[in-house]
Amino acid sequence: MLRVDQAGEFGATRIYAGQLAVMGGRHRAARDIARMASQEERHRARFDALMTERRVRPTLLAPVWNVAGFALGAATALIGPEAAMACTAAIETEIDRHYGAQLDRLGDADPELGDMITEFRAEEVEHRETALAAGAERVPAYPLLSAATRLGCRMAIGLSERI
Ligand SMILES: [Fe+2]
Ligand SMILES: [Fe+2]
Repeated sequence: MLRVDQAGEFGATRIYAGQLAVMGGRHRAARDIARMASQEERHRARFDALMTERRVRPTLLAPVWNVAGFALGAATALIGPEAAMACTAAIETEIDRHYGAQLDRLGDADPELGDMITEFRAEEVEHRETALAAGAERVPAYPLLSAATRLGCRMAIGLSERI
């Protein structure tokens, strides 16, 4: 669980880094993105610390998520701020599901991890709301873009759990 969660938070920081690299500070959306990015940074750092403490090795796919995350962020931002937000809305929908499923599996087995997931999940849901409020659904072909991003996200989760 820790391995995949740290991979996801790392990927999230890379997506937002790609978006901010393209958008700079010009767009109003950039302020929202910078705020969400700093929360992802905090999530990743806390999973990093717990992994070190528990001697969990990180996913071997980190170099892939490094590049793929940045590319996804940059590509969506190149389409426009609403596409960037559509990407966030899609991913956070999957992450909400993913963290929810983990919490169901955990029960009270690991309160330290469970509390972290609960806290981060609430912030991911806020990110989704922020993205929707910023016009994610106004992007042309939103259902297609959203479905493709969610599929990619589920595949990344599945791979990071195994490798
Ligand atoms: Fe996060
Ligand atoms: Fe997030």
